[in-house]
Amino acid sequence: MTAPRKRVLSGMQPSGLMHLGNYLGALENWKTLQEQYDCYFFVADWHALSTNYADTSRIREFTRELLIDWLAAGIDPQRSTVFIQSRIPEHAVLHLLLSMMTPVSWLERNPTYKEKREEIKEKDLSTYGFLGYPVLQAADILLYKSDVVPVGKDQLPHLELTRELARRFNDMYKTPVFPEPKEYLTKFPKVLGTDGRKMSKSYGNTINLSDAEPVVRQKLKTMVTDPARVRRNDPGNPDVCPVYEFHKIYSPQPVQDQINQDCRTAAIGCIDCKKLVADRMVERMAPMWEARTALTNHPSRIDDIIQDGSRRASHVARATLTEVNAAMKL
Ligand code: TRP
Ligand code: SF4
Repeated sequence: MTAPRKRVLSGMQPSGLMHLGNYLGALENWKTLQEQYDCYFFVADWHALSTNYADTSRIREFTRELLIDWLAAGIDPQRSTVFIQSRIPEHAVLHLLLSMMTPVSWLERNPTYKEKREEIKEKDLSTYGFLGYPVLQAADILLYKSDVVPVGKDQLPHLELTRELARRFNDMYKTPVFPEPKEYLTKFPKVLGTDGRKMSKSYGNTINLSDAEPVVRQKLKTMVTDPARVRRNDPGNPDVCPVYEFHKIYSPQPVQDQINQDCRTAAIGCIDCKKLVADRMVERMAPMWEARTALTNHPSRIDDIIQDGSRRASHVARATLTEVNAAMKL
């Protein structure tokens, strides 16, 4: 007998289209993890409500696009359970039960909560749901008794709270229902947007996985370079050029070295330099575009995957909730 595979769970909010910054961080990790673990990947559409409750018009569209991106990028729905949070009502039930035993002070001191509230000034985030965001996340994680949770470091306070809630529950009801999950830190490479700032949908500087080839090429053409390099004959400095950051991700080392040298001596111009990286990028994105087209041409295949993922997730979620009810004598 082999030991059961450890369980991995992670989610993403459908709050926009997926871009290279998200992809090169999170999704590449997920693909590696699915080789070894029993993986659960879900679209956290209820979480998206915490900041988008006043305008839900695009959540459904983004949910579907996100799923298509995952599948096109190589998340295998046979191996991994891919699902949508709002299809599994047990997330809400466990969230409610956990909320009964969560001290408000634990939530108010959460640094991610404080930062986000500062950052997103244009929306009213003084809501019960936004404060309780990490409790919902804890419910997501604990419902599947996850062992490992791949996340970025901004999510560490949420993982810590999840562990605290798991302990509190197990101690309070004297039943070891929940294991304490460990984080698997996602190393995000430095991905800059077309304006040279961090790639982020709120800056409008993204290259999306769903962008067609001409769009990607156009975005690179207009991308900022070393601001000191005004004319073709001016030497440039790759160290301060965001285009060069893409070369570091996409071009082989010898090409990088060559460009580094040629930029400093003005032997290469920015137009040619950008064309080189665009070719590499397009080469890497092409298989995803093909897979995307195949999926969008067969919408029923996506529906089947969602259906099947819901069924598998639901099975686990219900079993856990039965144990929870028993432990709580409900
Ligand atoms: N909060 C996560 C984010 O914004 C998304 C998320 C929701 C999540 N539930 C989760 C991540 C459970 C990991 C596990 O990135
Ligand atoms: Fe940037 Fe390339 Fe232009 Fe140098 S040649 S400034 S690396 S785009």
